[in-house]
Amino acid sequence: MEKMMIKMRKKKLPLSISHHCCFLLSLFSIFASFRSTPVHNYADALTKSLLYFEAQRSGRLPYNQRVTWRDNSGLTDGLEQGVDLVGGYYDAGDHVKFGLPMAFTVTMLSWSIIEYGEYISGAGELEHAVEAIKWGTDYFIKAHTSPNVLWAEVGDGYTDHYCWQRPEDMTTSRQAYKIDENNPGSDLAGETAAAMAAASIVFKKTNPHYSHLLLHHAQQLFEFGDKYRGKYDENIGVAKNYYTSVSGYKDELLWAAIWLYRATDNHHYLNYMIDNGDSFGGIGWSITEFSWDVKFAGIQVLASQLLTEEKHMKHKDMLEKYQSKAEYYICSCLNKNNGTKNNVGLTPGGLIYIRQWNNMQYVSSGAFLVLVYSDLLRKSNGKELKCHGGEVTSEELLQFSKSQVDYILGSNPLNMSYLVGFGPRFPTRVHHRGASMVSYRENKGFIGCTQGYDNWYGSTDPNPNIVVGALVGGPNHNDEFNDKRGNYMQTEACTYNTAPLVGIFAKLNYLENTVLHAFY
Ligand SMILES: *[C@@H]1O[C@H](CO)[C@@H](O)[C@H](O)[C@H]1NC(C)=O
Repeated sequence: MEKMMIKMRKKKLPLSISHHCCFLLSLFSIFASFRSTPVHNYADALTKSLLYFEAQRSGRLPYNQRVTWRDNSGLTDGLEQGVDLVGGYYDAGDHVKFGLPMAFTVTMLSWSIIEYGEYISGAGELEHAVEAIKWGTDYFIKAHTSPNVLWAEVGDGYTDHYCWQRPEDMTTSRQAYKIDENNPGSDLAGETAAAMAAASIVFKKTNPHYSHLLLHHAQQLFEFGDKYRGKYDENIGVAKNYYTSVSGYKDELLWAAIWLYRATDNHHYLNYMIDNGDSFGGIGWSITEFSWDVKFAGIQVLASQLLTEEKHMKHKDMLEKYQSKAEYYICSCLNKNNGTKNNVGLTPGGLIYIRQWNNMQYVSSGAFLVLVYSDLLRKSNGKELKCHGGEVTSEELLQFSKSQVDYILGSNPLNMSYLVGFGPRFPTRVHHRGASMVSYRENKGFIGCTQGYDNWYGSTDPNPNIVVGALVGGPNHNDEFNDKRGNYMQTEACTYNTAPLVGIFAKLNYLENTVLHAFY
């Protein structure tokens, strides 16, 4: 940290001061806004966000496991089907390994590093962030057992939800489910391809062999998903009521294609997203949500980034169409589109509000896209974003993204941090099986399905273990929050809630330190 600040002061700022008056001005305005609201410790938030992924680990835990209330679990996953599916992540407060949200989590962790890796590194957290990705990609490699076979899920929500058990005691079904040529799942194959392609960029320099391996899997999965078309939840019934792919698979195929293009520079993938942009809805859908299900806004922001490079000018027309939808999404977050239904809902306290169940996922993913777009505008020589309700500067986008994150960290009507373990006040009854019961490491006495419900779930005591770094579902449309274990719409956390925060925390931490320390 110290080192990076000194470097910034000596190298970059004098250059900027002498040559770019406007850059300096914008630095001052960033400084002013950082002073006007209570300052959160973004470095601490970053460190904590990465611990969360260790709490969600399934499989054999490594010697350097830092979340010590967890132990090995799911060690026979896949055994019944004759495949090694040990590892990966539990998605939330239960013990099902759902492939679709797990892959989206890894894509967003990878995007965080691709965009903000130097700041994550500057905060000393790069190794942990890379480990969080690898815990997912190691599992995807195992789950992709042949070119056209991908194991999609281990366990099922129905039997799992009858039990309130620690993962270490798990007695529920660990049946594994797959997609293949006869039971296709282009959404799942596409998202897993996107995750592995994005991760291959992360490992390119530090582990080229692993990077190639990921890319190889990603290319095969994309081909599989493209050639054998279908929605995975139509073939895997147990996924249906939990992670239904409502938006279908076309967004995941475009998403995979653009990530594969970024990973390979191979025009085959770029052409795919250009040629299918129209028929797949990439340039047609105006959408105010970005999530594990609906990726269009992410695709559109990535396409906008391509427009900054001369070599993509021959696709200028199509890329600009993608960009105009990206702008629609960003303007909707700022409530600067025409008409309420074209804008994202906001709570009275200013938080993005999409729906009552796990709303925070839309906040963290939205704040991420807005931040990336802010950087894109800054790199485009101070170009402004033209929304119906007026022009928006890069700085305003940064401030919006920061406002969402500050709300998460405690700047809200309840003074409650929704990032567990951060600040003086945070949810203490998180809907999380492992956290809500005595640690297995402390007491190895078996706890059965209903025993867990009777003795732990129903308790009004705080959880004995703190799921540090988890971002819970969060408050309702009126900024109200009820910290009860049974209130899973608000108190459950998911891996894809926290993933985008990793990049945002790193960037805000960098801005706060470099900007403040550079001038004072
Ligand atoms: C939140 O903090 C502010 C400022 O310290 C205080 O005025 C307010 O009463 C607090 N609100 C709650 C709900 O604790």
